[in-house]
Amino acid sequence: MDFEESKRKRNSDRRKSTECTKLIATITAGIIFGFCIGASFPAFSPSKIKLISPVDTYLWDKKPGHLNVISASKSNVSKEVQNHDDPSKIWVSSNPRGAERLPPAILAVESDLYPRRLFGKPSEDLTIEPKYLVTFTVGQNQKPNIDKAVKSFSDNFTILLFHYDGKTTEWDEFEWSKRAIHISVAKQTKWWYAKRFLHPDIVAPYDYIFIWDEDLGVDHFNAEEYIKLVRKHGLEISQPGLDPSSRGLTWQMTRRRGDHEVHKETEEKPGWCSDPHLPPCAAFIEIMAPVFSRDAWRCVWHLIQNDLVHGWGLDFALKKCVEPAYEKIGVVDAQWIVHQGLPSLGNQGKGENGKQPWQGVRERCQSEWKMFQDRVSEADKDYYKSIGVDLLNITAH
Ligand SMILES: *[C@@H]1O[C@H](CO)[C@@H](O)[C@H](O)[C@H]1NC(C)=O
Ligand SMILES: *[C@@H]1O[C@H](CO)[C@@H](O)[C@H](O)[C@H]1NC(C)=O
Ligand SMILES: *[C@@H]1O[C@H](CO)[C@@H](O)[C@H](O)[C@H]1NC(C)=O
Repeated sequence: MDFEESKRKRNSDRRKSTECTKLIATITAGIIFGFCIGASFPAFSPSKIKLISPVDTYLWDKKPGHLNVISASKSNVSKEVQNHDDPSKIWVSSNPRGAERLPPAILAVESDLYPRRLFGKPSEDLTIEPKYLVTFTVGQNQKPNIDKAVKSFSDNFTILLFHYDGKTTEWDEFEWSKRAIHISVAKQTKWWYAKRFLHPDIVAPYDYIFIWDEDLGVDHFNAEEYIKLVRKHGLEISQPGLDPSSRGLTWQMTRRRGDHEVHKETEEKPGWCSDPHLPPCAAFIEIMAPVFSRDAWRCVWHLIQNDLVHGWGLDFALKKCVEPAYEKIGVVDAQWIVHQGLPSLGNQGKGENGKQPWQGVRERCQSEWKMFQDRVSEADKDYYKSIGVDLLNITAH
């Protein structure tokens, strides 16, 4: 390194350090730490320039006068991407997309919802690593009901509340609320939250995931016992039986049977089931209190559409996620709940054209159902067409 070059470097390092100071308030400590290390030890490693370049670009980005620099460095980056046969540069094509430059041993591909301490040894942070997750989508009017519901779940559960009414500190009165995770986004539905915050890679440590409504009566429900039964009967997707006193009991399949531990099929009204192994006679549960195994959830998460927030019709499509669905989807009768049908998010809609708020919500639910069905059948058609199979021949049997 000649004198001129090293002087230039030092100047640029000084500039970067100043930027560092300015940015401390806005960028997380981790990024800053890495960046400052990179900037203060330019001779640290041959790859360090590349490592810090995204941050560098970001800094430049903030200065309109340097736009030309950004585009130049961007074009250099894309050249590097094409030229990955230089053995001194890391490129692992089997890494997840976008992470090919990282050595595989450093990749943290999955995460969890376990809170950690700010001090001490990371290895000693977690005194308990819950193996199950339960989420409730709640408004504060349901506090007493949710308090009761949460108490039917043991310490082996991570408790996650999605707040649709913006009220979170209101739950502080409950001891369990302190160890719960609270996510607050106004007026969203259970499936909207689930799609955003329960990515399978984030909830990877959990054997089972309960994604429940807020209006369920749990006097006859114990979550640990429930999981024992689900394991025993090999249910990948399940729900507790609904007591016959439940509101809006539409389907025979989800009605609790007094004479069973678990059931996987039922009889419906004549003509409702084209096949005894298909919904709503089997391979079917409803969406108010579903429980998914880790693997089933990985599939179902992908099936949930970003814009179809009410999840109507999802229940009829769950069967696509497990095989054979009529054996792996079922209802647990021995641990059962009551669907109270309390007014909740339905009342958070907006009244238009003289209609009640709940009417608008209901209409959207129904139109989403139709849209979802259409998308699923279009996707099926596209798939079979792409592999050159005649769908008529498939559906014939
Ligand atoms: C981009 O690459 C060219 C040729 O390798 C080099 O001359 C130029 O300085 C690089 N630009 C930036 C911004 O790094
Ligand atoms: C939590 O899980 C462990 C391991 O499966 C089990 O031994 C324990 O009984 C569970 N706790 C409760 C309260 O059921
Ligand atoms: C449908 O199935 C029949 C019998 O297996 C076969 O002869 C026919 O060619 C199939 N049609 C198409 C379009 O694949």
